[in-house]
Amino acid sequence: MDVDRRRFLELAAGVLAALSLPGCASLVSTRVTPVDGTVRLPIRNFPQLARPGGYLKVQPDGAATPLYVLALDDGYAVLSPICTHLGCTVNVEGARLLCPCHGSTYDRQGRVLRGPAERPLQRFPATVTAGGELVVRLEGRP
Ligand code: FES
Repeated sequence: MDVDRRRFLELAAGVLAALSLPGCASLVSTRVTPVDGTVRLPIRNFPQLARPGGYLKVQPDGAATPLYVLALDDGYAVLSPICTHLGCTVNVEGARLLCPCHGSTYDRQGRVLRGPAERPLQRFPATVTAGGELVVRLEGRP
């Protein structure tokens, strides 16, 4: 029984270590349940959103694809990760979002920096409440 508990603690420590590495953030999605087409995220619960440059991958229940929540210098951008060229999933790489398929590059607001994509990533309206919640409206989301 002690061996099982020790193994559990080792696995839990490994998971916590992976979650704390910035480069591993893309491996983990935070599941959320939309209510009336809106997702609410208490920012204080997500240290990766505390500073510009951080980001969080969010998986709304029932949605086919996740969202990227990116901390900017002056707020947040909530973007679809689906490349507007041919639909591959882009990766957050520091100040840019890169498509692994044909190299399209976007900035952290979803604007195209380099093609072949010609249109920006889909961006969802997001506001921060006085209570520190990021409120994202999922309008237009497939
Ligand atoms: S699908 Fe992203 S660059 Fe082609």
